[in-house]
Amino acid sequence: MSDYVLDLTGIRKTYRGGVEALKGINLQVPRGCIYGLLGPNGAGKSTMVKILTTLIRRSGGEGTMLGKPIGDRSALQKVGLLPEHAQFPDYLTGRQVIEFTAGLQDVPTSETRQRADSLLELVDMTEAQGRKMRGYSKGMKQRIGIAQALVNDPEIVFLDEPTDGVDPAGRRDFRLLMKRLREEGRTIFINTHILSELEPIVDRVAIISQGELLGEGILDDLRSEKPEFHIEFEGALSPATVESMEKTGLILNSGLITALTSRAADIQPVIDQLRREGLTLSRVELKTQSLEELFMGFVDQSNVAAPPPIPGTPVNPPAIPRS
Ligand SMILES: Nc1ncnc2c1ncn2[C@@H]1O[C@H](COP(=O)(O)OP(=O)(O)OP(=O)(O)O)[C@@H](O)[C@H]1O
Ligand SMILES: [Mg+2]
Repeated sequence: MSDYVLDLTGIRKTYRGGVEALKGINLQVPRGCIYGLLGPNGAGKSTMVKILTTLIRRSGGEGTMLGKPIGDRSALQKVGLLPEHAQFPDYLTGRQVIEFTAGLQDVPTSETRQRADSLLELVDMTEAQGRKMRGYSKGMKQRIGIAQALVNDPEIVFLDEPTDGVDPAGRRDFRLLMKRLREEGRTIFINTHILSELEPIVDRVAIISQGELLGEGILDDLRSEKPEFHIEFEGALSPATVESMEKTGLILNSGLITALTSRAADIQPVIDQLRREGLTLSRVELKTQSLEELFMGFVDQSNVAAPPPIPGTPVNPPAIPRS
């Protein structure tokens, strides 16, 4: 079997009315990774997940999921989904929502009870399982949403904005849970624009904007700015040290030395010199381009490359009349 759980070529979606939500996306998602689909509002992220889970039809393109053509029923049985703004019947309890999804996913009744027990524990909702959804906080609803997405023991889990409205502690729990799911060999496909929460756990990202793929890969490869060490200190360096440091390629500003390296060993002589001069080190930090900076770089670049259309000029080809 292919190592790619998702292998997509030229996926397009034109909504009724002519909005080109996806303009030919190619994506390959390796098995067992946490994959982030990133993009600003309206980029086409939810459209992609809806196509893959057959909530809507694509307008063009081909692809496989778990080695089967998109839409194949046997593949869909191995897929879990937390939709964007998921709404579950608010008169059901948390446990009932999980059991309800189990029914829809053809989970054998004999297994449902035990699955619900372990999923409730996994998302830390055992105590609150008997309360109705309408009485849950936003974060509690999302926990149940994630649990129901796992009820069929899926190989791929699609989570569309899973931490929408979740507090910092809940987000930390979410990250731990995602790592655990990855350890179990599942592939987790996350749509988000909250980049800081994804950065520590994500294996690969795709960045899309206005229906187009701007970049794809592992974070270190996508980062255009190289990592560097910042060494902050209090006091003034002697002129001789300034001169010799600058000769070795260090960049000096008042109270800050920048070393264009990611190797801690390279900066030890600098620290030794600061100590010899009796200066106080206040901070040593390895600076890397954050996912947020990387993302904004891609999006800004694409906005420069594609100026807004002149008013009155037709932008889209005639609409394909289906949604
Ligand atoms: N049912 C629909 N009919 C017409 N246009 C739609 C429909 N659903 C989405 N769109 C449009 O398609 C584009 C992509 O929307 P989509 O919801 O996929 O974006 P998104 O990346 O998920 O955004 P967000 O971050 O806001 O959730 C947007 O321009 C949106 O207005
Ligand atoms: Mg969306």
